Amino acid sequence: MMTSDLSRRSFLTRGTMAATGAALAPLAIASADREPVVDPKSPAAAAGTLWIGGDLQVSRLGFGAMRITGEGVWGEPRDAQAARAVLQRAVALGTNFIDTADAYGPNISERLIKEALYPYPRGLLIATKGGYVRPSREKWVPDGRPEHLRAACEASLTRLKLEQIELYQLHRPDPQVPYEDSIGELAKLQKAGKIRHIGVSNVDPQQLAKARAIVKVVSVQNRYNVAERGSDNVLAICEREHIAFLPWEPLAQSVQKSWRPDARLAALKAIAKERNIDTSRAMLAWLLTKSPVILPIPGTSRVDHLEDNVAAAKIKLSAQEMARVG
Ligand SMILES: NC(=O)c1ccc[n+]([C@@H]2O[C@H](COP(=O)([O-])OP(=O)(O)OC[C@H]3O[C@@H](n4cnc5c(N)ncnc54)[C@H](OP(=O)(O)O)[C@@H]3O)[C@@H](O)[C@H]2O)c1
Repeated sequence: MMTSDLSRRSFLTRGTMAATGAALAPLAIASADREPVVDPKSPAAAAGTLWIGGDLQVSRLGFGAMRITGEGVWGEPRDAQAARAVLQRAVALGTNFIDTADAYGPNISERLIKEALYPYPRGLLIATKGGYVRPSREKWVPDGRPEHLRAACEASLTRLKLEQIELYQLHRPDPQVPYEDSIGELAKLQKAGKIRHIGVSNVDPQQLAKARAIVKVVSVQNRYNVAERGSDNVLAICEREHIAFLPWEPLAQSVQKSWRPDARLAALKAIAKERNIDTSRAMLAWLLTKSPVILPIPGTSRVDHLEDNVAAAKIKLSAQEMARVG
């Protein structure tokens, strides 16, 4: 990253430390380059830390910057100053993993991140994505063509004012383009130094395997929350292979809004009540307790919600509570 510590560069295979202390193999090779950057006393670091790609240390509670744009993830936010304040507060609370994408706005989330945080503080990891275009508010059209991904990556570098994107994620497989071709282009961008690490998103186990046959995949971003467990199989692979798993929609908004009865959500709500915490906080605590490779990226446009969410970092559910949720 342009500002911060280029000395952070190293080529470790992996390594993870988590608050849960769940059984993972021992840490990878130590390196003088692998510098701890997380302030262990910061509120977000209470969740523990993860080493993305083995060399970039992040607090295990991140921030999703999709909600800082306008309604429907389209256009300018109602209050750009408030959006920038949320980003600044996230970093002040020790969040050093910010997830974004060129499709958010489009382009606006990335621009706001630069406006709010540049020159970037040491150790801030901005993870962006390419592979979607937005012809209108309602439309999200996958575009995984190599030429599109190259242009998208270049544009993100410019918008974010970076020389290298530390984590670049393919937003979703494009059914019109062989997945190998899209991932192959990311491999080229990595070789050219434009991106440091590669992540994938919205993948099934087969797609993840295809990507891993071509590049080292350091993160997977799939929809996952207390009520949506469709990616349990992918999470299991991430645990086995020490890949960071970034659950999107960690607060299960669509399930909550649908009023579809969900026994697991109901059990967690009961636990939240007993603990006298709100449901959002309990959902994040559930994710953090669920697996040491999970790095939730809750999104909000409000500082008070952000503070509530970061407060989840210090909550660990008991084995009994986890069993009740199932
Ligand atoms: N890879 C993908 O395809 C994909 C898809 C979707 C999202 N994502 C990423 O994942 C991140 C999170 O996903 P998401 O935004 O869909 O879901 P989310 O984080 O589960 O939910 C965000 C929503 O919850 C509200 N909220 C946040 N904190 C709250 C709190 N403490 N109390 C009450 N309401 C709260 C927010 O509204 P307020 O603004 O009012 O707080 C917002 O409407 C995104 O920012 C984005 O980075 C990735």
